[in-house]
This record gives sequence, structure tokens and C-alpha cells, in this order.
Amino acid sequence: MPHHLTGGGTTLLLDFDGHALPRVLHWGVELPEADAVPRAENAFPLLPLEADGWLGRPGLAGDRAGQFPHLRLRRTEQTTIGAADAEAGVAVACELIMDEHGVLRMRHQVRNDGDSPYTVAALRAVLPVPDEATELLDLTGRWGNERAPQRHSFGYGTHGREGRQGRPGHDAATLLVAGTPGFGFRHGQVWAVHVGWSGGCEYYAERHPDFPGVLAGGELLASGEVRLAPGETYTSPWVYFIHSAEGLDGISARLHGHLRARPGHPTSSRLVHLNTWEAVYFDHDLHRLKKLADTAAGIGVERFVLDDGWFTGRRNDKAGLGDWQVDAEAWPDGLHPLVDHVRSLGMEFGLWVEPEMVNLDSELARAHPDWVLAAPGRLQRPVRNQHVLDLIHPGAYAYVRDSLDALLKEYDIAYLKWDHNRPLVEAVHEGTAAVRRQTLATYALIDELRARHPGVEIESCASGGGRVDLGILERTDRVWASDTNDPVDRQHIQRWTGLLLPPELVGTHVGPATTHVTGRTTRLSFRCATALFGHAGIEWDITACEEDELAELAAWTAAYRRLRGLLHSGTTVRVDHPDPSVLVHGVVSANRDRAVFCYAQVGTSVAATPLRLRLPGLDPGTRYHVSVCPELHTHSAFQAPDGTFSGQVMSAVGLPLPRLLIADAVVLEIEAT
Ligand code: DGJ
Repeated sequence: MPHHLTGGGTTLLLDFDGHALPRVLHWGVELPEADAVPRAENAFPLLPLEADGWLGRPGLAGDRAGQFPHLRLRRTEQTTIGAADAEAGVAVACELIMDEHGVLRMRHQVRNDGDSPYTVAALRAVLPVPDEATELLDLTGRWGNERAPQRHSFGYGTHGREGRQGRPGHDAATLLVAGTPGFGFRHGQVWAVHVGWSGGCEYYAERHPDFPGVLAGGELLASGEVRLAPGETYTSPWVYFIHSAEGLDGISARLHGHLRARPGHPTSSRLVHLNTWEAVYFDHDLHRLKKLADTAAGIGVERFVLDDGWFTGRRNDKAGLGDWQVDAEAWPDGLHPLVDHVRSLGMEFGLWVEPEMVNLDSELARAHPDWVLAAPGRLQRPVRNQHVLDLIHPGAYAYVRDSLDALLKEYDIAYLKWDHNRPLVEAVHEGTAAVRRQTLATYALIDELRARHPGVEIESCASGGGRVDLGILERTDRVWASDTNDPVDRQHIQRWTGLLLPPELVGTHVGPATTHVTGRTTRLSFRCATALFGHAGIEWDITACEEDELAELAAWTAAYRRLRGLLHSGTTVRVDHPDPSVLVHGVVSANRDRAVFCYAQVGTSVAATPLRLRLPGLDPGTRYHVSVCPELHTHSAFQAPDGTFSGQVMSAVGLPLPRLLIADAVVLEIEAT
């Protein structure tokens, strides 16, 4: 009897009969257990190898001093799914968990049962997709423009994406999606894979004339990185597989549901931030920062985050990383006067750290030059004047842990912004490749600090959005999606970051009129509408704002506080709008009685008359009233239509709308009558 793994409308159907590891008969729409599925001779093996006749990338690659480059697995008796090649002395175990949202997690383990070392070169989670999946989509990007989508046709051959920077990177694939022709946010069948790992990653889609197409993911291992001594095991990261018959929004709905069901998912209100980075950069002057805090508190900010520049010798980005003690010159009385002031204003206090890094110009590097993650005498090229601290070294690990622990004990810190500003290249510890061990050490460090300080929230930042993955999110509370606060670019970045993450896990800030990163000048109303759809904050020297700007910001924080319950619990909806100069997205409450949508004009339209605004995701049989979010400004002449309309009308006919000014948005609230 085939084995059904079913959840959230998705079924993975496995055939165990007569095979070493089960064969995959189906991954896609839910199948009732009673439905017979014809057995296929060449059904896809869970860990495809040459011995199965598979001619694509193998699910497991490795060797024993050059011997046994190919394994022949035989079934073993164990509670998990297991198989072994007794002659080669290698055993594998596979773990699959389908949750109630339809998110399938898979990981494999290899054990060396021989009496000499066995080297693992690759261990991949691979699943077949139907022939109808003829198109691919994944994400890429760069600093300041992360998670840009790209499409390809899914032809014969291999489409591969690799992260070789010891972090997913700004160009991370994030999700690799295969789908039926023309799939979009609201239509088409799609199959997706995500690697929940913060070190080297690989993703690929592969199709061969003799085999079904596959989607795969795993950790990218360097030469000799995993060399198992007799009895040792290597476990791959969790690889996530998600299917949706309702387009990309269905992928997001499943992932968001999965993430929200985790015991560690943040449940408290996501507080409005003021981050000091673009407000003062390295100019840490107590008087100036207190004034910034006063202004922030006056407009409804709830958490004040002191960014880079507070620790010993850190007057610019050339020195100080590693010296995690408060700079005595800039802060003669420590951070106490600022922390106390912020707390007295009723705000929480947050602090920036970059624990995995070191400047050579630091007390730490001078005292412990051997704690830099590099082979002796082979220091890497600096990036942003910095190097990586070798957290695999027990002394370095203990030093950073104890320094951060001391700060968290001394100060009333509710939040750490945990940065990671350079890629790991030529990362070597005691002569062997070290990205994997460094990644595990980072995880252990965060886990240990969290265990000691359970109330402290942590943000994953890596020069913006360079570390956005479900491995880091097992131990952090939000990501910084990008260093750009330019609302035109942010509309895109947030739209695609939302493919993986729900809005409450994505930091979204209002910056100054002229964005520091892009130089583009935009209206405050547009910046506010854009930053509303996430974990909102401000990153701007608001002490220099005019009264009307402060009033507008105060109204916006009030709107965010009023709407965040909905924004952070509802279903994300993105509209496949035919005009590429318009982006429409929203959040619909779980019971579909309320929604909030953003209609944004991000470029110049070719169409002379604006296209109708279709709003999907509502209940077809319910009538709704549409209004403009009262606290937010819109510069275009805009009025919500009178009357009430059914969800069916909203999605099939749409609302007639005037054209918005370029770089303007309107936020619509929809309520069941
Ligand atoms: C990169 C981050 O993305 C910025 O937000 C800021 O924290 C700087 N690092 C500080 O060095």
C-alpha cells in the first residue's frame, strides 16, 4: 500500500514496496487515501543514485579515500526511513514531516559504518515535479536590491543556484519554483523548494529526457568539509517543499501558516522602531541621541534601536569590531544615560551587534590574531575593512558569548540587531573548510544567548537582506529585508521577501525624503504606505523634521498600531495586475471579514486610462465596504467608491480608480458589512 503524507491540501505519496528507499509516486494536490494510483516502473527514488538508473545529480555523493564513489542502497529495518550499502559501510536515514499547512520538510542523515573516514561531498533533498511544470522562477539581487525575481523555462539540463558566501547572500535564490505555463501569484500550479540553512546552499531544477524534472536543495559543502570518522553522522539541513494549486500566494499561505504555528513565533505586538543608523551613523552624541529619542517617543515610536558605533574604538567602519565593550570616550557613563532616558520615555531599548566579525584594528585582533577565520599566513581580502571571527575556536566563542551576555545583564536591552557584513571566503579552521562549522557555531551562540535571555528579540541583518532563511529564523524574530528604504524599490523587495516570510517577520522602515542608498526623492505618504506592510519603523533624523512631517508620522504610527493585529495574522494577497507600473498587495483577515490593501503606482504606465483594481482573496458571497485608511495621506485625487460590493464583484469586476501620481499609493480598508 502506498503511504500518504497529507496536509494543507498537499499529498506526498510514497511507495515502499520492494525498494531500498521509497519511490515518490506523487507530490502535489491532495489525494484521498482511497484513490488507487498506478505504480510506475521507474518511479522516482527518494535519494536518487546511479544505481537506480538516475543520470542527474546524485542525492548523495561521497567516497572512502576515493573508493565507493557510488552507493547501492538496500533497505534496513529501522523506525525512520533507512537504507544502507553494507559493503561501502554507509547508512542513510531520511526524515519527512508534512505539516497541517502543506509544508513538507525533508532532511537526510549519512552514517559512516566503516572503519576508515568517509567523505560526504553532497547530500541533497530531491523531489520530482510533473511534466506540466515547464517554467521556473527564483530570486536574486544585490546589496540594496534584494530578492529580484527572474524567470526561465524549465527545459532539459540543470538550472542551478549556489550560495558560496557562508550566508545565503543578497543574491540568494530563497525559493526555487517550478510551475505550469504563465503561473502567477493567484493562478497556476507551482512547486517550490527552500533550504533552511544560513551557510553555503545549493538549489537546482533538473530535467533529463529519460526522467521526470526535479527540484532539489541542500547544503553546499566545500572539499573535505565533511569527513566522517567511523560511527560519525552528517545531517543535512531541513529542506522545505511546498506545492500550491493556486499560484505563488498559495506557497506563501502555506509557509506563513507553517511559520506562525511554530512555538517560537513572535506573538507580542511588533513594536514601532526608531533605528539610529541613517539618523546619526557613527556620530554617537548623547545629547543628540536623547533628542532623537524624545522626538521618537512623541510620534508613537515604541522601541529605540542604537545602531553601529557605540563600542570601543568604533568611530567609523575601519576599527573596533570585536571590542564589545561600551566606548569610554563617546559614552563616559556607559550606555546608562541613554538607556534610562529611552526607558523613561516608555520605549524599549535595542542594540546593534556584529558578533561574527572582527576588525584587524581592534584590541581583540591585536590580542588574538589567531582568532581570525583564515589559514595561518593566508588572510583574505578585507570586505568593509573587516574579517570573520573564528567562532569555532572555543576561546573566541566564549569571549563573544560572555561579552554579549555581560551587556545583556548590565543593560535593559529588549532587542539585538545582529548584523553580518561580509561574506565568508577562504574560510578555514585548522586547515580544513570551515563554513559549516562556523554556521553551526553561530547558531549555537544565538541559541545560548537566547536561553540565557529568553525575552530578548533578535533581528537577522546581513548588510540588509543577506541572511534570510528558515535556519536563522528558527532563532531570530525578524529580518532586515534591505538597506534601502526607497519605497519604490521596497515595494518590490517586500513583495518578494513575502514569498517566504509573513509581514511580521520583515523589518520595514520609513526613511528620509531622499533615500541615502538610491538618491531618489519620494513623498512621505508613499514611504509610510510602503512601510506599513511589515514590522514597521523609522530610520531618519526626525529631529530635523517639520511639524507637518511629524504629524504625518504620528498618524502613520497610529494607523500601524490599529492595523497590526490584522497585518500580522492575515493572509497575504498579491494581485497579478496587468499593468507593470502598478503593484497591488494586501492582507485579508483569517475569517475574511476585513482586509487592508495597498495600491501603489511605482512607475509610468503605458495605458492612458488606469486599469480596474481587482481585489482577490475576499469571500465571494460577502458584501464589503471600501474606505481609504483615514490616518494616511494620498496625494492623488482619490475617493473610495460609494456603496457595498460582494467579494465576487471585487475580484471579478474590480473598482474603477483614478490614476495615481507616480510614487504614490493609496491604502484601502475593506470591511464586511
Ligand atoms: C549594515 C546594516 O544593514 C545597516 O542597517 C547598519 O546596521 C550597518 N550595517 C551598520 O554598520
